[in-house]
Amino acid sequence: MHFGSAMVVIDKVQCAQIINEIILMKVLGLETSCDETGIAIYDTDKGLIAHKIYSQIAQHAEYGGVVPELASRDHVRKTLPLIDEVLLEAGMTKNQLDAIAYTSGPGLVGALMAGATIGRSLAYSLGIPALGVHHMEGHLLAPMLEESQPEMPFIALLVSGGHTQLVRVDAIGEYRLLGQSLDDAAGEAFDKAAKMIGLPYPGGPQIAALAKKGNPKSGLKLPRPMTDRPGLDFSFSGLKTAFLTAVHLALDEERCDEQFKADAALAFETAVVDTLVIKCRRALEAEGLKQLIIAGGVSANERLREQLEAQLKKIKANVFYARPEFCTDNGAMIAYAGAQRLLHGQSSGLSLSIRARWPLSELPPLKES
Ligand code: KG4
Ligand code: ZN
Repeated sequence: MHFGSAMVVIDKVQCAQIINEIILMKVLGLETSCDETGIAIYDTDKGLIAHKIYSQIAQHAEYGGVVPELASRDHVRKTLPLIDEVLLEAGMTKNQLDAIAYTSGPGLVGALMAGATIGRSLAYSLGIPALGVHHMEGHLLAPMLEESQPEMPFIALLVSGGHTQLVRVDAIGEYRLLGQSLDDAAGEAFDKAAKMIGLPYPGGPQIAALAKKGNPKSGLKLPRPMTDRPGLDFSFSGLKTAFLTAVHLALDEERCDEQFKADAALAFETAVVDTLVIKCRRALEAEGLKQLIIAGGVSANERLREQLEAQLKKIKANVFYARPEFCTDNGAMIAYAGAQRLLHGQSSGLSLSIRARWPLSELPPLKES
């Protein structure tokens, strides 16, 4: 091995020690972009060793959606105690951490600032690197925390409260946007439809639960937007309007009872799922790929998982996803995504930089340090 002009001879054991020091890292991940405080520790040798999620949903529920100021204040209150709980669960002290990864965008500015400030300051006090992580890259890589993992290249369907995107993934940081929603995100559409029939926020899981009591032969038919023309973009605002029209009609005709709401929930969920499945299959065929990952809150939807499995079998393709708690916002995905970049020598400077909007395509590829 050469260091400058001097030649240093090292034996195999020393070489293994140096390599281990470079590739073994315990990374603390902080997620505070919206209404969940997620904290986790990812060990690049052992995998995920501890994680906790604190959800603010109950605080926002009475307002029918996330109140940004309440969200930031609660992250400030909860982040440090939750870090202590996660360290306790891992049987570690702060001094054993090698790096800190925090979500630096996209998301709510105040909420992002809370996690970024705590993460950056803690890393500074411990003298370890810190890295701002892209929230959607975190979601995209969350299926990698599971046993069954895809190999790159693959197609990713990112479906959260703020995003609906189809992305070709050739490597970490090598993302090509194939299509996206021109208006509402799928999760947002679920949330708004739920509100229309009096269900609380967040609406996705509520609609999914109510849909189980729905009658598939109710006769309520909703559109599968933009599936009758080529392309990989989505639009959910027309579907939302069709849903609202059906609800108004039922109200006028005094038949908006519990069974109607369950039938409507089923019709809505099926319409969104069918639309997503059609576009996923189209993206795989267009790119000649056989592996799909789904990520983000809506990927927790059971009907979506079942339908994708059934439909992709027909073209000999496979779908991969994370366990439900890692589909919605969590710290594990941020610790994992951060670790991949930190291992390659990437880190953020001392000044804080957060981005409310941040296209995934602007992320740098991984480079060997
Ligand atoms: O990824 P996420 O936790 O937060 C964002 O980054 O936006 O996604 C939250 C969204 C919400 O819109 C919620 O209604 C939706 O994911 N969601 C679901 C389900 N679980 C969460 N939508 C449909 N079915 C579900 N089971
Ligand atoms: Zn998210």
